[in-house]
Amino acid sequence: MVDGAFDIVGLGVATVDDFIVVPEYPERNSKHPVVGTARQGGGLTATALVAAARLGCRTAQLIGLGQNELSRFLRQSLAREGIALFENPDARDAEPFHSVIISEASTGERSILWDDRKTTPPRIGAAERQLLLSAGCLFVDHVFAHAIIDAVKEAKNAGVPVVGDFERSNDASLPLMDLTDHIILPLAYAVSLTGADGPDQAVRALMRTPGRSLACVTDSERGSWYAFADDLPGKVRRQYAFRARKVVDTTGCGDVFHGAYAAGLVKGLPPGERVRRASAAAALKAEKQGAQSGAPTLEELEAFLREA
Ligand SMILES: Nc1ncnc2c1ncn2[C@@H]1O[C@H](COP(=O)(O)OP(=O)(O)OP(=O)(O)O)[C@@H](O)[C@H]1O
Ligand SMILES: [Mg+2]
Repeated sequence: MVDGAFDIVGLGVATVDDFIVVPEYPERNSKHPVVGTARQGGGLTATALVAAARLGCRTAQLIGLGQNELSRFLRQSLAREGIALFENPDARDAEPFHSVIISEASTGERSILWDDRKTTPPRIGAAERQLLLSAGCLFVDHVFAHAIIDAVKEAKNAGVPVVGDFERSNDASLPLMDLTDHIILPLAYAVSLTGADGPDQAVRALMRTPGRSLACVTDSERGSWYAFADDLPGKVRRQYAFRARKVVDTTGCGDVFHGAYAAGLVKGLPPGERVRRASAAAALKAEKQGAQSGAPTLEELEAFLREA
């Protein structure tokens, strides 16, 4: 990495998440009291960047934000986390992804309703391309795949590793996935994508992409399975989830897992240690409400790992 460059540059989605906490998950046509509300930043890439920033990484995000309340909220909350924003100058009327998350107080389980009708992808001009070429790694997700794939390909060809989180498919996300050196997918999506009948098979299928460095699938409190290049051929390893002392909210566990993994990558940790730390960071996140606000600091992660 060149001096003054960023450890991780994100090109995926940032969201505003409005939480509505209810004692029990609502049934259709029922009425319920609300016991808590909160507005927080979320999204696959932005939350991964927050997690990595809290673990000491220099992070940046290419983003399309407008002049409105939701955009201002994101601008402020990401800046507070020390994430440098490179904004699309043509995005004046854009609004970020906006999610309403209904969260059950007793279990921490939730449903997410999202609105992407006014989103605008990042713009990747000459200056942004230079930023990508000098990054320690890129972080991508499926959301703006069509707008970022050419620039990602260029940086990858120049040797910049790509870490990715994908939760659904679109025309450009499948080729973007093929460019992703370190792919970490939730089990259900990995299975639907590969036709595998379980995590081991899914990981092996994902490792078949030429040049792939690591494939990992995650399955909430059941932990994760992964394989990496240079390991024994066909070997799939299991990382059990760390036990959260109290599960408060699992929103963003996967995103924090990804960010902590990317932080381990740019710090030069070996694959197994990256996954172990990612798993511990995600368990700590489950103990707190909110996707980004629950990401642990480096001190919290180190203390948790010492105790575990
Ligand atoms: N309740 C939990 N307790 C401990 N660790 C957890 C828990 N839930 C998730 N994790 C950790 O986080 C990792 C990722 O979680 P999960 O598989 O739910 O990701 P996801 O489906 O992408 O979630 P999201 O996108 O909402 O963040 C798991 O492999 C595990 O290590
Ligand atoms: Mg996820």
